[in-house]
Amino acid sequence: MANSISQNNAVITGVGGWVPEKVLTNEDLAKTVDTNDEWIRTRTGISERHIAAPDEASSDMAAKAALAALEDAGSKPEEIDLLVVATITPDSAMPSTACHVQAKTGLVNATCFDISAACTGFVYALDIAHKYIITGASKKAMVIGVDKMSAVVDWQDRGTCVLFGDGAGAIILEAGSGESRGIIATTTKSDGRLSSILRIEAGGSAMPLTAENIGERRQYIKMEGNIVFKHAVRSMYEISEETLEKAGLTHSDIAWVVPHQANMRIITAIAEKLETPMERVVTNLERYGNTTAATIPLALNEAVKDGRIKEGDYVLLVAFGAGLTWGASVIQWGG
Ligand code: ACO
Repeated sequence: MANSISQNNAVITGVGGWVPEKVLTNEDLAKTVDTNDEWIRTRTGISERHIAAPDEASSDMAAKAALAALEDAGSKPEEIDLLVVATITPDSAMPSTACHVQAKTGLVNATCFDISAACTGFVYALDIAHKYIITGASKKAMVIGVDKMSAVVDWQDRGTCVLFGDGAGAIILEAGSGESRGIIATTTKSDGRLSSILRIEAGGSAMPLTAENIGERRQYIKMEGNIVFKHAVRSMYEISEETLEKAGLTHSDIAWVVPHQANMRIITAIAEKLETPMERVVTNLERYGNTTAATIPLALNEAVKDGRIKEGDYVLLVAFGAGLTWGASVIQWGG
Protein backbone atom coordinates (compact mmCIF):
# COMPACT_ATOMS: atom_id res chain seq x y z
CA MET A 1 0.00 0.00 0.00
CA ALA A 2 1.25 3.50 -0.88
CA ASN A 3 2.04 5.73 2.08
CA SER A 4 2.52 9.25 0.74
CA ILE A 5 0.45 12.11 2.17
CA SER A 6 -1.72 14.03 -0.26
CA GLN A 7 -5.08 15.79 -0.23
CA ASN A 8 -7.51 13.97 -2.46
CA ASN A 9 -11.22 13.74 -2.43
CA ALA A 10 -12.67 10.25 -2.57
CA VAL A 11 -15.44 9.20 -4.94
CA ILE A 12 -17.50 6.06 -5.30
CA THR A 13 -16.81 4.61 -8.75
CA GLY A 14 -18.56 1.25 -8.53
CA VAL A 15 -21.38 -0.43 -6.60
CA GLY A 16 -22.52 -4.03 -6.37
CA GLY A 17 -24.99 -6.05 -4.34
CA TRP A 18 -25.98 -9.61 -3.82
CA VAL A 19 -28.68 -11.49 -1.91
CA PRO A 20 -29.06 -15.26 -1.59
CA GLU A 21 -31.58 -17.10 -3.76
CA LYS A 22 -33.91 -18.43 -1.08
CA VAL A 23 -36.84 -16.12 -0.22
CA LEU A 24 -38.60 -16.44 3.13
CA THR A 25 -42.00 -14.70 3.13
CA ASN A 26 -44.05 -13.51 6.08
CA GLU A 27 -46.48 -16.32 5.32
CA ASP A 28 -43.62 -18.84 5.55
CA LEU A 29 -42.66 -17.44 8.98
CA ALA A 30 -46.26 -17.64 10.20
CA LYS A 31 -46.00 -21.41 9.80
CA THR A 32 -43.16 -21.65 12.33
CA VAL A 33 -43.75 -18.82 14.87
CA ASP A 34 -46.88 -17.13 16.25
CA THR A 35 -47.00 -14.19 13.82
CA ASN A 36 -48.83 -13.09 10.70
CA ASP A 37 -48.22 -11.12 7.53
CA GLU A 38 -50.40 -8.21 8.63
CA TRP A 39 -48.50 -7.69 11.93
CA ILE A 40 -45.10 -7.84 10.25
CA ARG A 41 -46.08 -5.51 7.41
CA THR A 42 -47.77 -2.88 9.54
CA ARG A 43 -45.18 -2.88 12.36
CA THR A 44 -42.07 -3.14 10.17
CA GLY A 45 -42.84 -2.73 6.43
CA ILE A 46 -41.17 -6.08 5.66
CA SER A 47 -42.81 -8.65 3.35
CA GLU A 48 -39.97 -11.06 2.70
CA ARG A 49 -36.27 -11.57 3.21
CA HIS A 50 -33.51 -13.65 1.57
CA ILE A 51 -31.86 -16.46 3.51
CA ALA A 52 -28.39 -17.86 2.78
CA ALA A 53 -27.88 -21.58 2.18
CA PRO A 54 -26.34 -23.43 5.15
CA ASP A 55 -22.99 -23.67 3.36
CA GLU A 56 -23.06 -20.05 2.18
CA ALA A 57 -20.90 -17.88 4.46
CA SER A 58 -20.76 -14.11 4.76
CA SER A 59 -17.58 -14.14 2.64
CA ASP A 60 -19.41 -15.96 -0.18
CA MET A 61 -22.10 -13.29 -0.35
CA ALA A 62 -19.51 -10.52 0.03
CA ALA A 63 -17.38 -11.95 -2.78
CA LYS A 64 -20.33 -11.86 -5.17
CA ALA A 65 -21.09 -8.23 -4.29
CA ALA A 66 -17.36 -7.42 -4.60
CA LEU A 67 -17.09 -8.85 -8.12
CA ALA A 68 -20.22 -6.92 -9.16
CA ALA A 69 -18.73 -3.67 -7.80
CA LEU A 70 -15.41 -4.29 -9.59
CA GLU A 71 -17.25 -4.86 -12.86
CA ASP A 72 -19.33 -1.71 -12.33
CA ALA A 73 -16.16 0.33 -11.72
CA GLY A 74 -14.30 -1.31 -14.61
CA SER A 75 -11.54 -2.18 -12.15
CA LYS A 76 -9.29 -5.21 -11.90
CA PRO A 77 -9.09 -7.04 -8.55
CA GLU A 78 -5.35 -6.39 -8.27
CA GLU A 79 -5.92 -2.60 -8.38
CA ILE A 80 -7.63 -2.68 -4.96
CA ASP A 81 -5.13 -1.85 -2.19
CA LEU A 82 -7.54 -1.80 0.77
CA LEU A 83 -10.52 -3.97 1.68
CA VAL A 84 -12.65 -3.10 4.72
CA VAL A 85 -15.48 -5.50 5.49
CA ALA A 86 -18.19 -4.44 7.94
CA THR A 87 -19.92 -7.43 9.51
CA ILE A 88 -21.17 -8.84 12.81
CA THR A 89 -21.47 -12.31 11.29
CA PRO A 90 -17.88 -13.10 10.27
CA ASP A 91 -17.21 -16.54 8.76
CA SER A 92 -15.31 -17.31 11.98
CA ALA A 93 -13.52 -15.38 14.73
CA MET A 94 -10.30 -15.62 12.72
CA PRO A 95 -9.09 -15.02 10.11
CA SER A 96 -11.08 -11.96 9.12
CA THR A 97 -13.93 -12.27 6.64
CA ALA A 98 -12.04 -9.68 4.56
CA CYS A 99 -9.17 -12.15 4.12
CA HIS A 100 -11.62 -14.81 2.94
CA VAL A 101 -13.16 -12.33 0.48
CA GLN A 102 -9.65 -11.44 -0.74
CA ALA A 103 -8.93 -15.09 -1.51
CA LYS A 104 -12.27 -15.53 -3.30
CA THR A 105 -11.97 -12.43 -5.49
CA GLY A 106 -8.25 -12.10 -6.27
CA LEU A 107 -7.70 -8.81 -4.39
CA VAL A 108 -4.06 -9.87 -4.08
CA ASN A 109 -2.71 -6.40 -3.33
CA ALA A 110 -5.22 -5.38 -0.66
CA THR A 111 -4.70 -4.84 3.05
CA CYS A 112 -7.72 -6.62 4.49
CA PHE A 113 -9.56 -6.28 7.78
CA ASP A 114 -13.04 -6.39 9.32
CA ILE A 115 -14.78 -3.81 11.45
CA SER A 116 -17.67 -4.38 13.83
CA ALA A 117 -20.30 -1.66 14.19
CA ALA A 118 -23.45 -3.71 13.49
CA CYS A 119 -25.99 -1.82 11.37
CA THR A 120 -23.74 1.25 11.27
CA GLY A 121 -20.85 -0.88 10.00
CA PHE A 122 -20.99 0.29 6.41
CA VAL A 123 -20.86 3.99 7.35
CA TYR A 124 -17.95 3.31 9.73
CA ALA A 125 -16.09 1.30 7.06
CA LEU A 126 -16.70 3.96 4.44
CA ASP A 127 -15.31 6.58 6.81
CA ILE A 128 -12.16 4.50 7.38
CA ALA A 129 -11.60 3.94 3.66
CA HIS A 130 -12.24 7.63 2.97
CA LYS A 131 -9.50 8.56 5.45
CA TYR A 132 -7.06 6.11 3.83
CA ILE A 133 -7.78 7.71 0.45
CA ILE A 134 -7.53 11.35 1.46
CA THR A 135 -4.23 10.77 3.25
CA GLY A 136 -2.88 9.00 0.17
CA ALA A 137 -2.50 5.70 2.03
CA SER A 138 -4.85 4.00 -0.43
CA LYS A 139 -5.44 4.68 -4.10
CA LYS A 140 -8.38 2.38 -4.65
CA ALA A 141 -10.36 0.82 -1.82
CA MET A 142 -13.25 -1.57 -1.53
CA VAL A 143 -15.81 -1.32 1.25
CA ILE A 144 -18.27 -4.15 1.88
CA GLY A 145 -21.22 -4.45 4.22
CA VAL A 146 -22.31 -8.06 4.66
CA ASP A 147 -24.32 -10.05 7.16
CA LYS A 148 -25.74 -13.52 7.42
CA MET A 149 -28.28 -12.62 10.08
CA SER A 150 -30.07 -15.95 9.65
CA ALA A 151 -27.11 -17.53 11.51
CA VAL A 152 -27.61 -15.41 14.64
CA VAL A 153 -31.36 -14.82 14.93
CA ASP A 154 -33.43 -17.00 17.21
CA TRP A 155 -35.95 -18.62 14.88
CA GLN A 156 -38.17 -19.26 17.90
CA ASP A 157 -38.33 -15.56 18.89
CA ARG A 158 -41.06 -13.82 16.90
CA GLY A 159 -39.93 -10.43 18.24
CA THR A 160 -36.66 -10.60 16.28
CA CYS A 161 -36.72 -13.36 13.65
CA VAL A 162 -39.22 -11.51 11.46
CA LEU A 163 -36.91 -8.49 11.16
CA PHE A 164 -33.72 -9.77 9.61
CA GLY A 165 -32.37 -11.13 6.31
CA ASP A 166 -29.06 -11.95 4.60
CA GLY A 167 -27.16 -10.01 1.94
CA ALA A 168 -24.07 -8.08 0.88
CA GLY A 169 -23.27 -4.77 -0.77
CA ALA A 170 -19.93 -3.39 -1.97
CA ILE A 171 -18.52 -0.13 -3.26
CA ILE A 172 -15.24 0.94 -4.82
CA LEU A 173 -13.81 4.18 -3.47
CA GLU A 174 -10.96 6.01 -5.15
CA ALA A 175 -9.25 9.35 -5.39
CA GLY A 176 -11.44 11.68 -7.42
CA SER A 177 -10.44 13.30 -10.65
CA GLY A 178 -13.74 14.77 -11.89
CA GLU A 179 -16.10 17.52 -10.77
CA SER A 180 -17.81 15.58 -7.98
CA ARG A 181 -16.93 16.37 -4.37
CA GLY A 182 -17.35 12.66 -3.51
CA ILE A 183 -17.51 11.96 0.23
CA ILE A 184 -18.06 15.42 1.68
CA ALA A 185 -18.64 14.85 5.39
CA THR A 186 -19.09 11.89 7.72
CA THR A 187 -19.96 11.69 11.41
CA THR A 188 -19.78 8.51 13.49
CA LYS A 189 -20.79 8.09 17.13
CA SER A 190 -21.06 5.34 19.76
CA ASP A 191 -22.51 4.86 23.22
CA GLY A 192 -21.35 1.60 24.80
CA ARG A 193 -23.37 2.29 27.96
CA LEU A 194 -26.41 1.16 25.99
CA SER A 195 -24.85 -2.09 24.74
CA SER A 196 -27.37 -4.30 26.53
CA ILE A 197 -30.42 -3.20 24.53
CA LEU A 198 -29.18 -4.99 21.41
CA ARG A 199 -26.75 -7.84 21.94
CA ILE A 200 -25.56 -11.41 21.38
CA GLU A 201 -24.36 -12.66 24.78
CA ALA A 202 -22.68 -15.99 24.14
CA GLY A 203 -19.97 -17.10 21.75
CA GLY A 204 -17.25 -14.58 22.57
CA SER A 205 -14.54 -14.34 25.23
CA ALA A 206 -16.96 -13.06 27.91
CA MET A 207 -19.20 -16.09 27.56
CA PRO A 208 -17.70 -18.91 25.51
CA LEU A 209 -20.28 -21.33 24.14
CA THR A 210 -21.28 -24.14 26.48
CA ALA A 211 -24.01 -26.74 26.25
CA GLU A 212 -25.79 -24.83 29.01
CA ASN A 213 -25.82 -21.36 27.40
CA ILE A 214 -26.67 -22.85 24.01
CA GLY A 215 -29.62 -24.55 25.71
CA GLU A 216 -30.63 -21.12 27.01
CA ARG A 217 -30.39 -19.77 23.43
CA ARG A 218 -27.90 -17.09 24.48
CA GLN A 219 -25.97 -17.35 21.19
CA TYR A 220 -28.77 -15.45 19.48
CA ILE A 221 -29.74 -11.76 19.14
CA LYS A 222 -31.63 -10.20 22.01
CA MET A 223 -33.24 -6.81 21.52
CA GLU A 224 -35.31 -4.34 23.50
CA GLY A 225 -37.18 -3.30 20.36
CA ASN A 226 -39.07 -0.30 21.75
CA ILE A 227 -35.98 1.29 23.28
CA VAL A 228 -33.93 0.67 20.13
CA PHE A 229 -36.71 2.24 18.09
CA LYS A 230 -36.69 5.52 20.05
CA HIS A 231 -32.90 5.83 20.04
CA ALA A 232 -32.78 5.03 16.32
CA VAL A 233 -35.16 7.83 15.34
CA ARG A 234 -33.53 10.48 17.51
CA SER A 235 -29.91 9.53 16.77
CA MET A 236 -30.33 9.17 13.02
CA TYR A 237 -32.14 12.49 12.79
CA GLU A 238 -29.59 14.38 14.90
CA ILE A 239 -26.53 12.92 13.16
CA SER A 240 -28.07 13.69 9.76
CA GLU A 241 -28.50 17.34 10.73
CA GLU A 242 -24.97 17.52 12.14
CA THR A 243 -23.44 15.98 9.02
CA LEU A 244 -25.43 18.16 6.64
CA GLU A 245 -24.23 21.20 8.54
CA LYS A 246 -20.59 20.00 8.30
CA ALA A 247 -21.13 19.56 4.55
CA GLY A 248 -22.52 23.09 4.27
CA LEU A 249 -25.85 21.74 2.96
CA THR A 250 -29.46 21.62 4.10
CA HIS A 251 -32.26 19.04 3.69
CA SER A 252 -33.46 20.68 0.51
CA ASP A 253 -30.07 20.10 -1.19
CA ILE A 254 -30.33 16.34 -0.67
CA ALA A 255 -31.63 14.45 -3.70
CA TRP A 256 -31.71 11.07 -1.95
CA VAL A 257 -31.64 9.79 1.60
CA VAL A 258 -30.39 6.20 1.86
CA PRO A 259 -31.19 5.14 5.43
CA HIS A 260 -30.40 1.91 7.23
CA GLN A 261 -33.32 -0.41 6.53
CA ALA A 262 -34.53 -1.62 9.95
CA ASN A 263 -38.16 -0.60 10.11
CA MET A 264 -40.32 1.47 7.76
CA ARG A 265 -41.80 3.35 10.73
CA ILE A 266 -38.28 4.43 11.79
CA ILE A 267 -37.53 5.54 8.21
CA THR A 268 -40.76 7.55 7.81
CA ALA A 269 -40.26 9.21 11.21
CA ILE A 270 -36.75 10.33 10.21
CA ALA A 271 -37.91 11.50 6.77
CA GLU A 272 -40.60 13.59 8.44
CA LYS A 273 -38.12 15.17 10.87
CA LEU A 274 -35.76 15.89 7.96
CA GLU A 275 -38.67 17.40 6.00
CA THR A 276 -37.89 15.00 3.17
CA PRO A 277 -40.74 13.45 1.16
CA MET A 278 -40.66 9.65 1.02
CA GLU A 279 -40.25 9.92 -2.79
CA ARG A 280 -36.65 11.00 -2.05
CA VAL A 281 -35.94 8.17 0.39
CA VAL A 282 -34.53 4.89 -0.94
CA THR A 283 -36.16 1.84 0.67
CA ASN A 284 -35.99 -1.85 -0.11
CA LEU A 285 -36.61 -3.45 3.28
CA GLU A 286 -39.96 -4.73 2.05
CA ARG A 287 -38.00 -7.32 0.02
CA TYR A 288 -34.86 -7.83 2.12
CA GLY A 289 -35.66 -7.05 5.76
CA ASN A 290 -32.79 -5.78 7.90
CA THR A 291 -29.52 -7.12 6.46
CA THR A 292 -27.53 -5.17 9.10
CA ALA A 293 -24.25 -3.90 7.54
CA ALA A 294 -25.54 -4.65 4.03
CA THR A 295 -28.68 -2.49 4.00
CA ILE A 296 -27.11 0.79 2.85
CA PRO A 297 -24.86 -0.56 0.06
CA LEU A 298 -27.70 -2.81 -1.18
CA ALA A 299 -30.10 0.14 -1.34
CA LEU A 300 -27.43 2.36 -2.89
CA ASN A 301 -26.71 -0.29 -5.52
CA GLU A 302 -30.37 -0.51 -6.53
CA ALA A 303 -30.90 3.25 -6.66
CA VAL A 304 -27.76 3.81 -8.76
CA LYS A 305 -28.43 0.92 -11.14
CA ASP A 306 -32.08 1.90 -11.78
CA GLY A 307 -31.07 5.50 -12.47
CA ARG A 308 -32.62 7.21 -9.44
CA ILE A 309 -29.26 8.44 -8.11
CA LYS A 310 -27.58 10.50 -10.82
CA GLU A 311 -24.24 12.21 -11.35
CA GLY A 312 -24.02 15.33 -9.19
CA ASP A 313 -26.79 14.33 -6.75
CA TYR A 314 -26.22 14.95 -3.07
CA VAL A 315 -26.94 11.72 -1.15
CA LEU A 316 -27.29 11.27 2.62
CA LEU A 317 -26.46 7.86 4.10
CA VAL A 318 -27.57 7.38 7.72
CA ALA A 319 -27.48 4.35 9.98
CA PHE A 320 -27.97 3.14 13.52
CA GLY A 321 -27.20 -0.15 15.24
CA ALA A 322 -25.93 -2.20 18.14
CA GLY A 323 -23.19 -0.70 20.27
CA LEU A 324 -24.96 1.58 20.25
CA THR A 325 -23.46 3.05 17.12
CA TRP A 326 -24.76 5.56 14.63
CA GLY A 327 -23.38 7.50 11.69
CA ALA A 328 -24.11 9.57 8.61
CA SER A 329 -22.28 10.47 5.45
CA VAL A 330 -23.03 13.13 2.84
CA ILE A 331 -21.82 12.35 -0.66
CA GLN A 332 -21.96 14.07 -4.02
CA TRP A 333 -22.51 11.25 -6.50
CA GLY A 334 -20.26 10.72 -9.48
CA GLY A 335 -16.66 10.16 -10.39
N1 ACO B 1 -45.92 -11.11 15.39
C1 ACO B 1 -47.02 -10.84 16.14
N2 ACO B 1 -46.94 -10.19 17.31
C2 ACO B 1 -45.73 -9.81 17.74
C3 ACO B 1 -44.56 -10.08 17.02
C4 ACO B 1 -44.68 -10.75 15.80
N3 ACO B 1 -43.63 -11.05 15.02
N4 ACO B 1 -43.50 -9.56 17.70
C5 ACO B 1 -43.99 -9.01 18.82
N5 ACO B 1 -45.33 -9.16 18.84
C6 ACO B 1 -46.27 -8.70 19.86
C7 ACO B 1 -45.61 -8.46 21.19
O1 ACO B 1 -45.52 -9.67 21.93
C8 ACO B 1 -46.57 -7.47 21.83
O2 ACO B 1 -47.67 -8.18 22.31
P1 ACO B 1 -48.41 -7.72 23.68
O3 ACO B 1 -48.92 -6.33 23.40
O4 ACO B 1 -49.46 -8.74 23.86
O5 ACO B 1 -47.33 -7.74 24.73
C9 ACO B 1 -47.04 -6.63 20.64
O6 ACO B 1 -46.78 -7.42 19.47
C10 ACO B 1 -46.34 -5.30 20.52
O7 ACO B 1 -44.94 -5.53 20.65
P2 ACO B 1 -43.89 -4.36 20.60
O8 ACO B 1 -42.52 -4.91 20.83
O9 ACO B 1 -44.36 -3.25 21.50
O10 ACO B 1 -44.06 -3.89 19.08
P3 ACO B 1 -43.42 -2.64 18.37
O11 ACO B 1 -44.49 -1.87 17.73
O12 ACO B 1 -42.43 -1.91 19.23
O13 ACO B 1 -42.58 -3.31 17.20
C11 ACO B 1 -40.33 -3.89 16.59
C12 ACO B 1 -41.52 -4.19 17.51
C13 ACO B 1 -40.78 -4.14 15.17
C14 ACO B 1 -39.21 -4.84 16.96
C15 ACO B 1 -39.89 -2.43 16.76
O14 ACO B 1 -39.77 -2.11 18.13
C16 ACO B 1 -38.59 -2.12 16.07
O15 ACO B 1 -38.49 -2.12 14.87
N6 ACO B 1 -37.53 -1.76 16.83
C17 ACO B 1 -36.28 -1.34 16.26
C18 ACO B 1 -35.47 -2.47 15.69
C19 ACO B 1 -34.21 -1.89 15.07
O16 ACO B 1 -34.17 -0.76 14.64
N7 ACO B 1 -33.15 -2.60 15.00
C20 ACO B 1 -32.00 -1.96 14.36
C21 ACO B 1 -30.81 -2.35 14.81
S1 ACO B 1 -30.51 -4.05 14.49
C22 ACO B 1 -28.81 -4.25 14.62
O17 ACO B 1 -28.09 -3.35 14.90
C23 ACO B 1 -28.27 -5.62 14.41
